[in-house]
Amino acid sequence: SSKPELEILNKKYPTDEWTNVSPSIIELTNRKLHLKESHPIGILRKMFETQLAGLGGYTFYNEFGPVVSKYENFDVLGFPEDHVGRSKTDTYYINKETLLRTHTSAHESFCYKECKTPGYLISADVYRRDTVDRTHYPAFHQMEGAYTWSRTEHGDNIVDAIRRDLEALPKPNIIVEDPNPAYNDATNPKEECMSDLEVELVSQHLKRTIELLLANVFDNARKAAIAAGSKDPDLEAPLKARWIEAYFPWTAPSYEIEIWWKGEWLEMCGCGVERQHVLKNVGITDKISWAFGIGLERMAMLLFGIPDIRLFWSQDPRFLSQFKPDAVTSFKPYSKYPGTLRDVAFWVEEATPIHENDLMSIVRDIAGDLVENVSLIDEFVHPKTKRASQCYRINYQSMDRSLTNAEINELQEQVRARLVNEYGLELR
Ligand code: PHE
Repeated sequence: SSKPELEILNKKYPTDEWTNVSPSIIELTNRKLHLKESHPIGILRKMFETQLAGLGGYTFYNEFGPVVSKYENFDVLGFPEDHVGRSKTDTYYINKETLLRTHTSAHESFCYKECKTPGYLISADVYRRDTVDRTHYPAFHQMEGAYTWSRTEHGDNIVDAIRRDLEALPKPNIIVEDPNPAYNDATNPKEECMSDLEVELVSQHLKRTIELLLANVFDNARKAAIAAGSKDPDLEAPLKARWIEAYFPWTAPSYEIEIWWKGEWLEMCGCGVERQHVLKNVGITDKISWAFGIGLERMAMLLFGIPDIRLFWSQDPRFLSQFKPDAVTSFKPYSKYPGTLRDVAFWVEEATPIHENDLMSIVRDIAGDLVENVSLIDEFVHPKTKRASQCYRINYQSMDRSLTNAEINELQEQVRARLVNEYGLELR
């Protein structure tokens, strides 16, 4: 039997047993929010670009489509075969070999090969299967930056070249804690082909560049807030950040920067010194590079005061008309429609397992942006029968209108039916 083809952005793809991308996700692939100049995601993207353009040496890529090969997204970067990121529960597959990119790092190999400047910055939509709540959405945006130095070009003077570039960077207006050494053989090793000093200087250049990007957008937000009469104490002091060690299969050493915001540390950006296998895979053997990947939604939520990640995808003029090119302004909530809670409980059998992300996907496929949150609220084992049970609570809540009971009942019925028909679950 031949399986149906799937069409994404005017191209047809064969499907197979790996296919798990749904029509509601495919609809998001042509939105290009990062290119809209009056949309928070587009405004933020442009601020980062302007900042790096001012430093010089960067090429900007904004038009990469979201369909990539498993090779580009995982293999070339060195993801182990059993990495959870590769699983169908975490990633939208079009077929066994083709998927919706889960990160902008999927374009690193192309850019290392093709880019004619030492640096590049990619902006794009990325897709991940995940939980449903105020800060998670199956599509979001990332920017991938990288900067390289060539041993062929600089020879034995490569450290002088990196140091010169480091000293030329402006001082970011940010308070930073960075307690760890540039690398640590036990917890955050470097690759052997690089000297101590090379790693030290490259990581400094990477960290200063990211600090500049974050401090600059934050300063823009501060100026706008003060001009608008804000007395928010969080906006009065410079941004506070800290560097921690991290792990990514294609960088060593690796880091993450977190920023202090309203009483908690928020993870903003993963990065590191590029490992040689990525470069070798595209025929480059004489370069040192750093790379980072920064998510835009989280930064946009705090800068523009946007309370719910679904709003970025809203087509409602009450949302879209609030933003102007190149400006950070505070979102004014237009109205809050009440939410309605519905529970679904079922027995969890070894024979009929369901991954939480599959349940989330079913609710999203059926309710789309009418669902605000899905959470596991109860798990228990029956004392006599020893059967385990789970209960999930769904909050149905539209951003644009009130939902009727009949409408919610219909959605809930569909969710229940799919859990039974597709996963063989016994509902309670
Ligand atoms: N792609 C990584 C992520 O999505 C971020 C990253 C980019 C890390 C580049 C290191 C280098 O989390």
